[in-house]
Amino acid sequence: MRKRKMTPRSLFLMKKRGEKIAMLTAYDYPTADIQNSAGIDAILVGDTLGMVVLGYETTLPVTIDDVIRHAASVCRAQPRALVIGDMPFLSYTVSVADAVTNAGRLVKEAGVSAVKLEGGRAMLPVVRALVRASIPVMGHLGLTPQSILRFGGYKVQAKDKRAAERLLEAAKALEDAGCFAIVLEAIPATVAKVVTEALTIPTIGIGAGPDCDGQVLVTHDMLGIYDDFTPKFVKRYAEMRTLMKKSFEEYVEDVKSSRFPGPEHCYDGNGDA
Ligand code: KIV
Repeated sequence: MRKRKMTPRSLFLMKKRGEKIAMLTAYDYPTADIQNSAGIDAILVGDTLGMVVLGYETTLPVTIDDVIRHAASVCRAQPRALVIGDMPFLSYTVSVADAVTNAGRLVKEAGVSAVKLEGGRAMLPVVRALVRASIPVMGHLGLTPQSILRFGGYKVQAKDKRAAERLLEAAKALEDAGCFAIVLEAIPATVAKVVTEALTIPTIGIGAGPDCDGQVLVTHDMLGIYDDFTPKFVKRYAEMRTLMKKSFEEYVEDVKSSRFPGPEHCYDGNGDA
């Protein structure tokens, strides 16, 4: 029997039951399809798309049309997982009306069931407007890569007491504004534990220690495909880059030496492809 589709409420109930949430990023149909068969709870079509698929140095150049195109291909896999579309840089900060229009496009054109946006208190009017428009919102606090120009690099956040308190207050405010979950990125594990215990909505950690209600990784990092930069918090589950390179080298060798195609790959004039 096909399992029931995951919803924001399913994640909330998982937290209540003490069941951990497994989330990964995906940017295309086959990856979402494979993740679905592996039992992933939530799929984030992250703006990391810009770095690990489109080859940009940061996430800043990613457009709402980029996310829509990739999120639509993820949704065509019809995963059981909750599919969340990331709101890219400047798609929700220019005006609240703009944010609702862009999030609405992710729902209507791509088929996502929720959106994610980065930022704390300044984002409350946007979160409230999206929730009013019936679009579920996931927050994102700590290291928010769209603020790279302000941060001056990818640095661990909330390291001192004051910053940790501010993060906790922001998390509570996002929950009050209607967020159904919050990503906590690159913060001390002790701070993530306090935030997780203070909220009724789930926290999803990336570089935030083991006490978050769930974990997320960038798929291209955990598979060892993207290795321009590997943060400390990434666990490598495969060395796909090495495997792919070896396969491509073998193919080149086979073609050059006429070992490929063999008779089993050739048509003899009878039958179809
Ligand atoms: O864009 C993304 O993939 C993300 C994750 C790193 C949480 O925001």
